[in-house]
Amino acid sequence: MSLFARKPIADLQPPADDGRSLKRVLGAGDLVMLAIGAVIGAGIFGAIGTAAAGQVGPDGAVLRYGAGPALAYAYATLGELIAWIIGWDLILEYAVGNVAVAISWGDYFTTLLRGVGLELPAWLTTGYRTALLSANPDVHGLLDTAPRLLGMPVLVNLPAFAIVMFITWLLLRGARESATANNVMVVVKLAALGLFVAVGLLNIDTAHYTPFAPNGFTGIHQGAAIVFFAYIGFDAISTAAEETRNPQRNLPIGIIGGLAVCTIIYVVVGAVLTGMVPSSELAVADPLARALELAGYGGIGWLVALGAVVSMSAVLLVFQYGQPRIFFAMARDGLLPAWAARVDTKTRIPYMTTLVTGIVVAVASLAGDAAETYDLTNIGTLFAFALVCAGVLVLRVAEPERPRPFKVPLVWAVAPLGVAACLFVMIGLPPQAWERFAIWLVIGAALYAAYGYRHSRLRRP
Ligand code: ALA
Repeated sequence: MSLFARKPIADLQPPADDGRSLKRVLGAGDLVMLAIGAVIGAGIFGAIGTAAAGQVGPDGAVLRYGAGPALAYAYATLGELIAWIIGWDLILEYAVGNVAVAISWGDYFTTLLRGVGLELPAWLTTGYRTALLSANPDVHGLLDTAPRLLGMPVLVNLPAFAIVMFITWLLLRGARESATANNVMVVVKLAALGLFVAVGLLNIDTAHYTPFAPNGFTGIHQGAAIVFFAYIGFDAISTAAEETRNPQRNLPIGIIGGLAVCTIIYVVVGAVLTGMVPSSELAVADPLARALELAGYGGIGWLVALGAVVSMSAVLLVFQYGQPRIFFAMARDGLLPAWAARVDTKTRIPYMTTLVTGIVVAVASLAGDAAETYDLTNIGTLFAFALVCAGVLVLRVAEPERPRPFKVPLVWAVAPLGVAACLFVMIGLPPQAWERFAIWLVIGAALYAAYGYRHSRLRRP
């Protein structure tokens, strides 16, 4: 059977309720909240500043658009090899992306602790890779000053590790419980951003909007590549398909509704932020708090930091929710070992993959570096999105009769534009990102050849 064999339509129907399927507990409102939970986080509380300040103008922070959701559905329809590549790339988006978010969470959390007089030693809040790669002599010097175990410096990001393990515990309680926790966190994040916008609006100086694009189109291009990270997450909703009531109606509402709300939030926050202070002031790790401080509201900076910590917890939750379900779907198709498709009899969630993903991401966060993981996440996600856009077109030609509850409008314009937009943003990423991505793809191809190709259910009906 060819590498490009597609699953028959009948196989795309949800599996019978035989203890191997998940429980349908989520509605359209939950999905929109999950999208906001997943999208608004480290990007808006961190990267937005670099995007606006770097080589970019105010528009760079505002002008962005996502491409190509419905990845889980596409996973099952594009042919096995492409499905594997997309699944493999999504690990970069979900698990590797979460390493970056967990480290960012740790930074904000450490700042909050410091605010109440608790100072953790640097060797407990800095991962080994961060110390190794840092150009800052204080951070790099930790390699010499940290305590040693068996001759190795002990440099661990304990807060980042702890939050991932805590989120994993939350997820293991069940999908309904996880969605409720997410709903609460989304309300807090919207309140924090609402507070920022309300205060910011009183302090806008329109002179900051001129020139609107000081670095022209180049600035917009680089800004888009940087803030791309801020936009990812809405596609995680597609991994909730099997746990959603009436998914044919609720999934498009969740994805498009979530994307619309997040777009409005980004445009408003980007416009207010760049109106409050000159964009050159924003190249810091916590640009929103910085803008408030410069506008004379330093006293409420901690509220925004608290909002950031809660927001990023929601991002972690939704990505840690999505990744195990991708592994689960791959295992049920035989592309991963059968134990990964185990479902808990009581909570009816894929507990094995939830636990393994949690431990792997937590350990990677303990030692990892955020900057290193950001670029890899962006390039992998963009590539997966480009494949999905192309796949939509391929399927229209190959299987025009396939039932399509949601049909992409103007597909002959939208899909090629989607592919072009993804490739265009990819080109804006640094050469190291391309090198690491190439290595990632080679490892994935080797695993597929060694395991997935032989065990696939499609190949052994
Ligand atoms: N979009 C998510 C964030 O900005 C990953 O944190």
